[in-house]
Amino acid sequence: MNYNIMLIGFMGTGKTTVSRKLSETMNIKEVDMDAYIVEHEGRSINDIFKDDGEETFRNIETACLVEIQKTTGKIVSCGGGAVLKDENVELMKQNGKIVLLTAKPETVYKRVKNSKDRPILNGNMNVEFISELMAKRDSRYHEVADIIIATDDKSPDEICSEIKINLDKMV
Ligand code: S3P
Repeated sequence: MNYNIMLIGFMGTGKTTVSRKLSETMNIKEVDMDAYIVEHEGRSINDIFKDDGEETFRNIETACLVEIQKTTGKIVSCGGGAVLKDENVELMKQNGKIVLLTAKPETVYKRVKNSKDRPILNGNMNVEFISELMAKRDSRYHEVADIIIATDDKSPDEICSEIKINLDKMV
């Protein structure tokens, strides 16, 4: 595979679960951007936000993307805010196909409500906040995507086969 599959979308749209599953079924390497950042920084995403702020996190995110995009043949699960910077989208498009996963705010809430790992949602864990932030980001997600898959009420297997069918159509 001479490209990377870049999974993007709001927090809780299933990027991590789907990329793990896709990596198993397609037998290709998976990189989770958040996990990559945590490993390289030696501290949690919460700690990066707390100690150095969001801007520093976003700069680290770009630096990681530069490294990740140096090789192809992988599935990359991108952080929910990664496409907000033009520079990051350019990096993704250089050698990647961008797959957007979507979900309704209620679905996202159900999936993330017990997690404390997302600084943007800590203290804002409710459908209204999720809905408002999603509305702000939605057009951006849609305009950069090559493929769009709705994930509500679908199993990871169903989502993976939809992604594969759509990727095949693109080649
Ligand atoms: C963020 C999403 C998170 C993580 C960070 C910021 C965002 O990733 O990168 O907490 O701004 O949407 P996930 O989408 O994998 O939860």
